[in-house]
Amino acid sequence: MNPSLSNSRIIDESRQGEPFYSTDSETLTSPELKQFYIESYGCAMNFSDSEIVASILTECKYSPTREIEQADLVLLNTCSIREKAEETVRKRLRTIDQLKKQKPGMTVGILGCMAERLKKTLLEEEKLVDLVVGPDAYRDLPNLLNQVDDGDKGINVLLSREETYADINPVRLQSNGVTAFISIMRGCDNMCSFCVVPFTRGRERSRDPFTIVSEAEHLFGAGYRDITLLGQNVDSYKWIHPETQEVYSFARLLELVAQVHPDLRVRFSTSHPKDMLDDVLHMMAKYENICKYIHLPVQSGNSRILSLMNRTYDRAWYEDRIRAIRKIVPDCAISSDIIAGFCTETEEEHQDTLSMIKWADYSMSYMFFYSERPGTLAARKYKDDIPEDVKKRRLNEIVQVQNEVSRANLARDIGKTFKVLIEGDSKKSDQDFKGRNSQNKMVIFKKIPGVQPGDYVNVLIEDATSATLMGRAV
Ligand code: SAH
Ligand code: SF4
Ligand code: F3S
Repeated sequence: MNPSLSNSRIIDESRQGEPFYSTDSETLTSPELKQFYIESYGCAMNFSDSEIVASILTECKYSPTREIEQADLVLLNTCSIREKAEETVRKRLRTIDQLKKQKPGMTVGILGCMAERLKKTLLEEEKLVDLVVGPDAYRDLPNLLNQVDDGDKGINVLLSREETYADINPVRLQSNGVTAFISIMRGCDNMCSFCVVPFTRGRERSRDPFTIVSEAEHLFGAGYRDITLLGQNVDSYKWIHPETQEVYSFARLLELVAQVHPDLRVRFSTSHPKDMLDDVLHMMAKYENICKYIHLPVQSGNSRILSLMNRTYDRAWYEDRIRAIRKIVPDCAISSDIIAGFCTETEEEHQDTLSMIKWADYSMSYMFFYSERPGTLAARKYKDDIPEDVKKRRLNEIVQVQNEVSRANLARDIGKTFKVLIEGDSKKSDQDFKGRNSQNKMVIFKKIPGVQPGDYVNVLIEDATSATLMGRAV
């Protein structure tokens, strides 16, 4: 097993390639409609974008299908974050190419970050696709599909400074009816030296807060009880009212969304340590329904490496932020992203990352070894000089330490009672429900009569693994 996948994550490869389909009656298939099939790879932003794409397509005579063989249009919404993510998509495209040979009318399109990064390559050199659409060009899909119908290829990879798809009501695909994502911003203005996202997603821009609140209200009315506000760096959310010039910060947005209803849980991802300030923490402490969980990627525990990574904070700053969380939101769980074997990293510097995991007591982490991405600052400035076997060994050590820390962290919850939002049946048994507590920890417990997904129950924790809490409803 790839160690980076050992803790299940909603962001990144563990969910990659899941087909999207709808259970909504409004999108039931009809014979006049062409059918589209969409697979999403990468982060939650991509999964959220696929719901925007689905909305645009259902407006123009397409309906979703979960059977790729039945599809007239096959779309892959792709990720470029690491080389492996791109390889997976290329492999998938070659399989789809075989399918296309049996079904000549089928259109194959590539969306998302790989479309943006590779532009014409997949269309012209490799001839694997008919359609290439970057993350800011989804409104152009109907027009591009017409071009393809006329026998041309369709490509639009223009990045925008304004597009937030604020007015588009996403079609909730593959939904459990309880949890949903809401995009609050797009792009990223940070230039972490290892990262391709600023190149594939363009400049940072924030979405009108009133459209976010109205989407949250709509979701609550439809039975959803847990929403995650999404952005690459949510703490730098900033929207200026065009008439009053009033400034809406992330803390203010959080408050507006928390006020939608006390029974609507509000989560957010991702927080950048340099921007995560006390105002957000005070807002979390003020509202019970703002979940006590922060994903605060450290990347490395060593200040020299952090500086090479251009993360713009050092270890001391990061530790100060964790102390602030502990003080202002004492029951908050913290998780992280970690990169092993960044350029020039020494064994001692790697040890600093291990000690950081222990000190920060992360409930979980997403862990990767460094993968050089063409065009990034690191690719241009530094040599990718840590041998692959060393990177992998360091990653294994990181995974091992994190597993121990997670196990101890979750074990301390035994004997506590948590308010759990039921999300559905547990994977292993339909006799059990699964749900999460405010700290984003998965909780499994025996079903009791009279409750269903979307309900809150109090669960007394009786046992724990490194990833899951087990208990009984009380
Ligand atoms: N905006 C988020 C991260 C988005 S990418 C943030 O700043 O925290 C998700 C994670 O992928 C990153 O946090 C990082 O740990 C990892 N990652 C990004 N580029 C990578 C690369 N070139 N090699 C390995 N891991 C990478
Ligand atoms: Fe990439 Fe850094 Fe932006 Fe995150 S904050 S998306 S790691 S550049
Ligand atoms: Fe991947 Fe793009 Fe997200 S590179 S991680 S899909 S922003």
